[in-house]
Amino acid sequence: MTRVFSGIQPTGSLHLGNYLGAIRNWVALQDESDYERLYCVVDYHAITVEYDPAQFAARTVEMARDLLACGLDPDRSILFAQSQVPEHTELAWVFQATATSYGELQRMTQFKSKAAGREFVTAGLFTYPVLQAADILLYDASRVPVGEDQVQHLELSREIARRFNQRFGDTFPEVKPLLTRAPKILSLRDPEQKMSKSAGEGHYLSLDAPEKEIRTMIQRAVTDVGPRPEGKMSPGVGNLFLILENLGDADTHRALMAEYEAGALKYVRLKEAVADAVWRAASRIQDRKAEFPPEVVRDILRAGGRKAREMARAKMADVRKRIGLAEI
Ligand code: AQP
Repeated sequence: MTRVFSGIQPTGSLHLGNYLGAIRNWVALQDESDYERLYCVVDYHAITVEYDPAQFAARTVEMARDLLACGLDPDRSILFAQSQVPEHTELAWVFQATATSYGELQRMTQFKSKAAGREFVTAGLFTYPVLQAADILLYDASRVPVGEDQVQHLELSREIARRFNQRFGDTFPEVKPLLTRAPKILSLRDPEQKMSKSAGEGHYLSLDAPEKEIRTMIQRAVTDVGPRPEGKMSPGVGNLFLILENLGDADTHRALMAEYEAGALKYVRLKEAVADAVWRAASRIQDRKAEFPPEVVRDILRAGGRKAREMARAKMADVRKRIGLAEI
């Protein structure tokens, strides 16, 4: 049985990039009978940057609720919060101490971009990819559905597993990313960078937003900036077509693309079609949230956490033995 693991931080509501780059794949993988799936709200990752402790527990439950509303099915996937299973941080320490080099972590581009401009950069932000490797390898997961921004981290996970195996014997599998057809959704305001919450308001499209806000944001999306090289679609326009291709109907996409190729496309029509498609998906998710009141979500997380903990305990017992810790 192949294990699939992936996580998302409870840093706010789901945005369109999370959904098209990762969550849709999490849901689709539930139809693969030879996969066993674990999906996790990674709260220990989220505390590596500023956050509000008073809101944090509710945000964690709310993120799990968003995932359920997107179609995660607790009968087919184990859904839990990272902090329910302390073995994640235990294994992360073992990996930091025995199988990760400082130089490798220094090369992580996400760390460089997230550290830039911050007054206080935590050591946890620096070692974040090691905790991520532990999240995955604790369950012997070999397939990880993520967006393109996580591919470098997964290469590091692979390297950590390889090094650990060399030193302590064959313990962990090889990790491979599973990408969607939309692995990198770009910011609506600055299509040179990925859609992300940390870029700020206007850059990302929250799936929790009301219809008017979603339509306004898409109307304001940057399309062509200055002259573009002959025959090349600008990133902003490409991004809108990519969203439409993934959420809209194929006929509309084809017709608008033909207009674009004929040089006759008015971007306002493209934006309207994208807004219709995004709102259709977002409203469906928003409606489904009513099926999952916080108490029900908590019960699902509790049950998922129990199953995950059992698997994690068994794996950690093996790791402890291999690295030579005393059984006392
Ligand atoms: N723009 C994106 N396109 C495709 N996939 C994306 N993902 C994130 N942004 C895009 C994927 O979503 C999953 C969860 O990522 P995360 O836990 O880093 O979520 P986030 O904190 O909500 O992502 P942000 O907004 O991108 O965070 P910041 O602003 O903190 O960097 C991952 O699989 C990720 O690849």
